Amino acid sequence: MSHGFQVSPWELRWNDLDLGALERTEAIFALSNGHIGLRGTLEEGEPCGVPGTYLNGFHEQHPLPYAEGGYGYPEDGQTVVNVTDGKIIRLLVQDEPLDMRYGRAVEHHRVLDFRSGTLRRDTVWESPTGRRVRVRTERLVSFTQRAVCAIRYEIEPLDDRIQLVVQSDLLANEPIDSQSKDPRVAATLNNPLVAEDSFAEDYHAVLVHQTRKSKLRIAAAMDHELETDDGLRCEISAEEDLARLTAAVDVPRGSRLRVTKYLCYGWSARRSAPALRAQVDAALSGAMQTGWDGLLAEQRAYLDDFWATADIEIDGDAELQQAVRFALFHVLQAGARGESRAVPAKGLTGPGYDGHSFWDSETFVLPVLTYTVPEAARDALRWRHTTLDKARERAAALGLGGAAFPWRSINGAECSAYWPAGTAAFHVSADVSDAVVRYLAATGDEDFERDAATAILVETARLWSSLGHHDMHGGFRIDGVTGPDEYSAVVDNNVYTNLMAQRNLREAAALCERQPAAAAALGVTADETATWRSAADKMVVPYDEMLGVHPQSERFTEHARWDFENTPQDHYPLLLNYPYFDLYRKQVVKQADLVMAMYLRGDAFSPEQKARNVDYYEPLTVRDSSLSACVQAVLAAEVGYLDLAYDYFAEAALTDLHDLHSNVRNGLHIASLAGAWTVAVAGFGGMRDHDRSLTFAPRLPPALTRLAFRMTYRGSRFSVEVDQEGANYTLLDGPALTVRHHGEEVTLTPGSSERRPIAALEPREAPPQPHGRAPHRRTPKY
Ligand code: BGC
Repeated sequence: MSHGFQVSPWELRWNDLDLGALERTEAIFALSNGHIGLRGTLEEGEPCGVPGTYLNGFHEQHPLPYAEGGYGYPEDGQTVVNVTDGKIIRLLVQDEPLDMRYGRAVEHHRVLDFRSGTLRRDTVWESPTGRRVRVRTERLVSFTQRAVCAIRYEIEPLDDRIQLVVQSDLLANEPIDSQSKDPRVAATLNNPLVAEDSFAEDYHAVLVHQTRKSKLRIAAAMDHELETDDGLRCEISAEEDLARLTAAVDVPRGSRLRVTKYLCYGWSARRSAPALRAQVDAALSGAMQTGWDGLLAEQRAYLDDFWATADIEIDGDAELQQAVRFALFHVLQAGARGESRAVPAKGLTGPGYDGHSFWDSETFVLPVLTYTVPEAARDALRWRHTTLDKARERAAALGLGGAAFPWRSINGAECSAYWPAGTAAFHVSADVSDAVVRYLAATGDEDFERDAATAILVETARLWSSLGHHDMHGGFRIDGVTGPDEYSAVVDNNVYTNLMAQRNLREAAALCERQPAAAAALGVTADETATWRSAADKMVVPYDEMLGVHPQSERFTEHARWDFENTPQDHYPLLLNYPYFDLYRKQVVKQADLVMAMYLRGDAFSPEQKARNVDYYEPLTVRDSSLSACVQAVLAAEVGYLDLAYDYFAEAALTDLHDLHSNVRNGLHIASLAGAWTVAVAGFGGMRDHDRSLTFAPRLPPALTRLAFRMTYRGSRFSVEVDQEGANYTLLDGPALTVRHHGEEVTLTPGSSERRPIAALEPREAPPQPHGRAPHRRTPKY
């Protein structure tokens, strides 16, 4: 057992009825396909921590409050809406409502199954007056029919004949409790949905609503199959915010009542209420035609295929094995069927960060999808492409050329009300272009290159061209921006930003040569691409000669050091306990920034520089963001601190299962979960993808005996199996492929497996972390 979960390779089981842990388990047990998200609430609706049913992109708008406004401040915020809840199935056992706060849970467990893609529950409940029933439920959000969810709900009396009444609901405008000053918590919306239509007949009901300001429309529909021996009495009704099917039946011992609920959602900014109602009804018919067993079979087949391309096996740490599969499962859930929508920082598992997407998506999540489910990566990038006009408008409002993608958003419009860590974080535009370049290299998708990639790269290159300038010495500077580390802001020549912009400029110029017609349609000339190349060639990358390290931005290494020794542990995260003005002027790093540059632009640093920079930044980095541990792990592994990398691996993978940031209730940290893949593949597998080729430099920490991962690249699927002495590369299907192993070319051909040795490393002592901020030691000592 670990933190309430039973350790097991392919599932996550919770055996306890710890009602205090409900909010946490609701996020962890959330089901999603990237389009619909259902939190793992108990079917009976109460007790409940944070109720949540989300549709990707469905949001309400609200004015952003400024005590003192300023030119160019975004006017409207966006918040994800908790939509009509269709998960609710209430049960009355001979007049007594099943409510886990009363009576006794004789048995209770819940299981999230990574292969069936379902959440199961098994409860034996004794009512306060001593009647016992067994309730078994299973639910899924379909990967194959993206508008569809289904719930199987079975009740069996364990004593005498008993009267059971089941109420299956669609409930809109559920009350939500949230009063918090933590900026990472969502703005609370009261009654966001206005009823437009409701309908009920037989076992079927629909509710249609619209948001007040964003004017988005949503339809939710349910239908049921009921199985019992006899004597069923049913009623259905629908009013504005509630549709309810009620079924009453007397069930003898040894018999049972089985309800299968099919649930469909649709939303649109344009479609009328009747059109949307027709859409969900059609999806519902499709789901019922497939049937419960059919939906289960489709779900399993989809996941079998996913695991055949994406599984990671870890020998030597059973808890991490489970955590990594949990992580991959949730990354898939966040991104699988979003289809031209964003991947929010919390996926669809909770209201945290208002449901916004950040650079998390392109920089952390999309690399995983690119090498495992490339279509999903493409669709997420298409979303960025559909928002180009908003990004162009934003750049124009800021007096810049090209397109400035928003720091945080649901629909593509900037929603950050704090410009030093929002608008100024221009690196997000280079991050988007980097994800595009990676996707193109991994797939060779020419349609996407022509139809979407060229415009994204050209417009982001134009942004850098207008944001930077050549100084008197000819260097190209990008001043007044914020890099990944949010404890520094509005700095000059942030190394990460400059190196990512450099790649963006070069790749844009190269792409325009490959796609001359698409480039010409965007008005690109040879002179323009020449200015991009020259800016890239002259890009300023500050270096502190005296210390022999890269300052993460100009003058950073001259700042006073943060007083870590006198910072109490309960004052972390620092952003909730110290003023930004003080954080900004000191050497304290919230999350990997220069270290991030050394991962994504590792081609711009020598091995010696990497080692010295890691030693310099480790003692300054407090990891107040969950986006840090995985990147620190990758660089620690590269420079030879394998035990430290292993500790960070565990931190990234267990961020949510161990609730390391004490906020999993608001949703999972999808970037950190994706980071677990990053550590396995790029950390211990040493995978890098600079310059359109794949290289590996595998090396395991002493604690692991074997690590195996799979990837897809240009239509080939292959596996890399690493042990302490060597690595095996095996082509699983597709054309032959050449990669590199510690610098040496290895060609993978069908039917053969290539083994290469791994040279042992000289052990070096790892640098310390800030006082009290060392990761939990997973290995006894370094
Ligand atoms: C991090 C950002 C991240 C955001 C959403 C913040 O705490 O500093 O880098 O994009 O969380 O995950």
